[in-house]
Amino acid sequence: MKSIVILISGRGSNMQAIVEANLPLRIAAVISNRPSAAGLDYAAQRGIPTTVVDHKAYTTREAFDTSLARTIDEHRPDFIILAGFMRVLTAPFVEQYCGRLINIHPSLLPAFSGLHSHERALENGVKIHGCSVHFVTAEVDHGPIIIQAAVPVLPDDDAESLAARVLRQEHAIYPQALRWLIDGQVSLDDQQRVKFSGIVNGDGQLISPKERE
Ligand code: GRF
Repeated sequence: MKSIVILISGRGSNMQAIVEANLPLRIAAVISNRPSAAGLDYAAQRGIPTTVVDHKAYTTREAFDTSLARTIDEHRPDFIILAGFMRVLTAPFVEQYCGRLINIHPSLLPAFSGLHSHERALENGVKIHGCSVHFVTAEVDHGPIIIQAAVPVLPDDDAESLAARVLRQEHAIYPQALRWLIDGQVSLDDQQRVKFSGIVNGDGQLISPKERE
């Protein structure tokens, strides 16, 4: 059975969605860079081993990443899942897990990479927003995309209501992406392109706003 390690920094609702999807995989550990991350309690209650690698205890990014990698490697995971993990990782760290390190970002990448994606989506007046699951590469939020989900931006939205609509989709597509990864239906080739097998493309469309029916 394949195994994963999940990295969190806070609430951990994506981690929770992955746990509750009951995928045929072993969650070897949940690791947080913040001792106060709420998600740690949830994981512990579910009997998942938890560890804190507190970034504040390290003077450099490199030292933190080295310690984080050592902790991850103790569990020998097939995949490392970033689920609201709010640290920028160094290139050597990312490269050692090439094809095995996955992230979720709350925007339709490559739009609105980085922080505050919902606020920026609203400022820019986009009518469709969403979320993306992607392989992690050294450039933050720019790795090859596995799956995306789109939602309409509604006239009365604020960042909070939009975030909540996107988050519901995050909770659907992250477990889906993981299912494909552990089944070998999605992988990264040596040209850094995502290879799919046995996955059907949808032909629906989301138009936003649209004429009253
Ligand atoms: C999610 O929106 C995720 O996409 C982003 O940070 C948020 C984390 O939420 N990177 P949670 O900790 O999974 O609840």
